[in-house]
Amino acid sequence: PARLVVLVSGSGSNLQALLDAIAADPEGYGARVVAVGADRGGIAGLERAERAGIPTFVCRVKDHPTREAWDRALTEATAAHEPDLVVSAGFMKIVGKEFLARYGGRIVNTHPALLPSFPGAHGVRDALAYGVKVTGCTVHFVDDGVDTGPIIAQGVVEVVEEDTEEGEAALHERIKEVERELLVDVVGRLARNGYRIEGRKVRIP
Ligand code: GAR
Repeated sequence: PARLVVLVSGSGSNLQALLDAIAADPEGYGARVVAVGADRGGIAGLERAERAGIPTFVCRVKDHPTREAWDRALTEATAAHEPDLVVSAGFMKIVGKEFLARYGGRIVNTHPALLPSFPGAHGVRDALAYGVKVTGCTVHFVDDGVDTGPIIAQGVVEVVEEDTEEGEAALHERIKEVERELLVDVVGRLARNGYRIEGRKVRIP
C-alpha cells in the first residue's frame, strides 16, 4: 500500500475518515497512514493518530528562527516517514519551497469551498458572506500558490436559508460530511491506480 503522511491542524475528522476507511479494508484501500504531522500540539487530530497507534510529529513555526527553517524541519520530519503521498487535511499552514521541491505533485489538499472561489483560511465564511447559493469542497494538488493547484475532485453543498442566520459552523459541518467521503475516495483512487498531472489536468487511470 501507498504510504501516507497526513498533516493536520485541528479536529482531524478528515484524518479519521481515512483511518476508518483503511481499517475497514486494510488490503483493498491501497494506502496506509504511516505518520501524522501537525503545526501545533494538543489538538484532537493528534489524539486520533495516537489512538490508532500512528507515529506523530509536531513542527511549530515559532520553534524556528525563520519560516524557511520551519519548512525545512517540516520537510525532514515528513521525509523520515518516506511517504508516497502527503495529505493536507485541515493543515492551516502554507508549505514552503523546500517542501514543494521534495513533494510537489504528491501533496493532496482538501479545501472547504469550490475553488477557484474562496481560497485561503476562511473558505466557508467567505462563501457565505458573498451570498453564494451553492458551495462545497475541493480536493486538489498543492502548488506554490494558495489553493491554486490542479483540481482532482469537487463536491457540491447547497447553502440554505438557516446558514445565513446560524453562520459558518452549520454550513461547514455539512461541507465536511461531503468532504470526508470525497477525500477518502480520491486518496484511495490515487493510491490504487496511480495518476498523471498534465498541466491543470489530473488523470487517474
Ligand atoms: C476541513 O473542512 C478542511 O477543508 C479545512 O479545515 C477543515 C478541517 O477539518 N481546511 C482549510 O480550511 C484549509 N484552508 P478536520 O480537522 O476535522 O479534518
